[in-house]
Amino acid sequence: MEKLIIAPSILSADFSKIVEEVKTVEQCNLKWLHLDVMDGQFVPNITFGPKFVKDLRCHTNLYFDAHLMINNPENFIDAFADAGCNSITIHTEATNHLHRALQLIVNNNVDCGVSINPATSVEMIKPVLPMLDQVLVMTVNPGFGGQSFIDLTLEKIKQLSDLKEKNGYKYKINLDGGINIKTIEKARKAGCDVCVTGSAFFNAKDRSEFVDEMLKIANGVKQIMQNE
Ligand code: DX5
Ligand code: ZN
Repeated sequence: MEKLIIAPSILSADFSKIVEEVKTVEQCNLKWLHLDVMDGQFVPNITFGPKFVKDLRCHTNLYFDAHLMINNPENFIDAFADAGCNSITIHTEATNHLHRALQLIVNNNVDCGVSINPATSVEMIKPVLPMLDQVLVMTVNPGFGGQSFIDLTLEKIKQLSDLKEKNGYKYKINLDGGINIKTIEKARKAGCDVCVTGSAFFNAKDRSEFVDEMLKIANGVKQIMQNE
């Protein structure tokens, strides 16, 4: 198990001072920034588009992990890649042509991810697993920050972890929604490589202490598993 990657989601940041907010992510020695793009159709909320990402790109070298919660994401893949995203993750529920959309991401030379909602099974994306750099398991229903972790997703994380090991797939297993000090342990035990944290990170009294605590818990899990 690699060291846990923590990817703060700017959904819970103050957009009116976004550059300062993003600097705090760098100050915590984190390398990833999670960008939640919502269209008001696929999910009942609206956030930002490629222009916002492009403007932010000028202020940081963080790995931009774009999570597109939009219908027909194939229409916007080139725009988000041009804006400077390092990875683009799309929802299998949002397109009729998942394989074609993923090829578009790969052709743009950015890391390629698929996300599944809590009620979507791993079975749905099995054929494309060999193409993926990331599988993003939604551990809440997408649309809003600050929701509670849904435990029935744990089984899918384990399944993805087993499939990865058995077939030698390269994808990271990313979890998104309700991840905090209380839930990271079970998430990590199930096989989480990357955890997105929105409200837990941005609402923490001390963001750096929060990160240290998360890493400490994740590392503890690694040791338990090695000794088993
Ligand atoms: C939900 C988003 C998440 C969200 C996570 O639709 O995809 O990235 O910001 O927020 P928390 O960590 O507060 O659940
Ligand atoms: Zn997200």
